[in-house]
Parts: sequence; structure tokens; C-alpha cells
Amino acid sequence: MKVLGIETSCDDTSVAVYDSATGRAANLISSQVDLHDHFGGVVPELASRAHLVNLLPLVDVLLRREKLALEDLDGVAVTAGPGLIGALLVGLSTAKALALAADLPLAGIHHIEGHILANALTAEMVLPAVVLVVSGGHTELIHMPAIGRYERLGGTLDDAAGEAFDKTAKLMGLPYPGGPHIDRLAHQGAPGRFKLPRPLLKDPRPAFSFSGLKTAVRLVIEDLPRPLADRDISDVCRDLQDAIVDVLAGKLFAQAERLQVPAVYLAGGVAANGWLRERVQAGAVRRGLHFVPPRPLYCTDNAAMIAMAGYHHLAAGRRDSLDIDSFARAPLASWL
Ligand code: KG4
Ligand code: ZN
Repeated sequence: MKVLGIETSCDDTSVAVYDSATGRAANLISSQVDLHDHFGGVVPELASRAHLVNLLPLVDVLLRREKLALEDLDGVAVTAGPGLIGALLVGLSTAKALALAADLPLAGIHHIEGHILANALTAEMVLPAVVLVVSGGHTELIHMPAIGRYERLGGTLDDAAGEAFDKTAKLMGLPYPGGPHIDRLAHQGAPGRFKLPRPLLKDPRPAFSFSGLKTAVRLVIEDLPRPLADRDISDVCRDLQDAIVDVLAGKLFAQAERLQVPAVYLAGGVAANGWLRERVQAGAVRRGLHFVPPRPLYCTDNAAMIAMAGYHHLAAGRRDSLDIDSFARAPLASWL
């Protein structure tokens, strides 16, 4: 089965084809980072307009490159939400038009399910598992007995992990999104200089809170000499990353232990973080848990993960009608 995937939930326009016969995904991303960088965050109206300009040419390039016609496809999968409504609508309308034109089944996909199933693009998933979803808008622990079945265990009480990276990066004058910059600079920093807190780490609930950490970083930065020295910035990055990763890994393993699952997974943009991947890998080995880090390309927003999710929906016989709507927010629900 060959499924076309379309992802336009935020600031990246992405299209992909997943072929279940080969297990291979072809994925294209048109980044809007330069467009939004100037504003220090994503401007929704600009994102929608850029999707509108980029999406169809991107589909065209992908199909040409893969030597495929629309008629060669077996279905179309598209992110229906959560995300920026205007941005989502561009993807959804395009997906509907393509599905209608080529008489293909359509599957609307929850963005978070896409992030989770990005793991299936790397290797076959071992289930049941506890999945830690960490992106720009989400920080959630999910118990996953099978593909299509998701039980939310808990999540952040305030900021998402990605926001903790991005907002503190902004305080240090780093470009948007700040996560990858903090990841890079933390390598050059010394550990433990500022003794940042590990919010809720000792709390047994599957809950996170990152807004206090952001305040703690702001106070640390206000005490440093201006302009900020490279050395100081790297030390803050190191401490901050260590604090966030300690909490994320600690909570993931606590839930894996409580639920006695054989596997853990990471999903979402923050899953590209080098230190988080290393920590979870080492912790999984120590506990005898299965863990394979998802390919970094498939951690941040991409359409290959949406095509993969679409494949599972369509293969199970689930499809949407052409009047399916987009949604700004909604919890990930089981569909199987
Ligand atoms: O999943 P994603 O691409 O978009 C959302 O659905 O939100 O996640 C984007 C988030 C941003 O907050 C970005 O800073 C963060 O993922 N991120 C990282 C890294 N790469 C991306 N955070 C830490 N380390 C990274 N290497
Ligand atoms: Zn995402």
C-alpha cells in the first residue's frame, strides 16, 4: 500500500509517500524557519500563506521524484489537528481535493499519533509500551497497548518541554526554535554551575511542570554580566538541558516500571535531543527495556509519520469522509 502523507499543522510544509511493501518513506520538508525567525515565534497567518504557496508544488516534486502518478497511490493521510487552524485547513483542503480527484480513501490523522508512529518508521514497534511525547506544544506520557490504542497517563501542568527549551533560548538571545541550539551549546557547557531545579521529579504523579524552570533560568541570566559571554550561555544550556532531561527520563521510567511494559519510546521534536536519547538509551539498557531512538529527521514535524499513521488506519479499514474538519486541540483518542 502506498500512502501520501500531508503535514501542515505548524510552520513546516511536508509531504511524503510511505510504501508498506518496501517499508520505505520518501519525505520532503519545506521549512519556514527563516520566515518566522524575525518574529521570535511562528506567525499563524504567515504560516498558512506559505503552506498555500508551497504545498502543491511540493506534492508535484515528490511524485515526480518517486515516479508516481496520483492513481498509483492507495490513500491520502493528512494531519487534521491539533495545530494552527489556518495552517491545518490548507493541508486538509488539499488532501480532500487530491482524494476526490483520484478517488482515493482519505484518513485524517491526529498529529500526536503521527509523532508516536514515527517510531514505526525506524523499526517495528515493541508493544505494549510507555511513550513520552515531547514537542513544542505537548509533553505527555501515553500507555500504548497496540497501534491505534492510546491511554493518556498524564502530562504537563503548564509549559511543554519544547517551550521550556524555546522560551529559555529566547531569554539568551538564541534563534527560534531554540531546542536544537541548546542541544548544540550544552556540549560545550560545564554541568551543575547554577543548580537548576528538577520540577516534580520526586512527585510520583505522571505530571510535569516547566514554567518554574523557565523563571529560574530568567533569574540566573539576570545575574550574569551583559552582554552574555559564550561560556555563560553554554553553562546555562548545559544545566537547563540536564534538568529537563532528568525530569523527562525519570518520569518515563517510573511509568514503565509501574505498568510493567517491555518497551519505552520517545516521540516529538524534543526526541531529537541528543542527551535525552542517550539518557533513555542507557536507562533502558539498565532496566532491560526495549528502546530504539526514532530517526532525528522523523522526530520534528514531517509527513512521513502522517503517511505511516494513515497506512495503519487505512489497512484497518478506517477512513474519513470528505466533510472531515480540522481541530485546534483535542486529546489523542483510540480508534481501534
Ligand atoms: O514536534 P515538533 O517539530 O513540533 C510540534 O509539534 O510542536 O517540535 C518542535 C519542538 C521545538 O520546541 C524545538 O525547539 C524542539 O522540538 N526541538 C528540540 C530539538 N530539536 C527540536 N529540543 C531539544 N533538542 C533538540 N535537538
Ligand atoms: Zn509536532
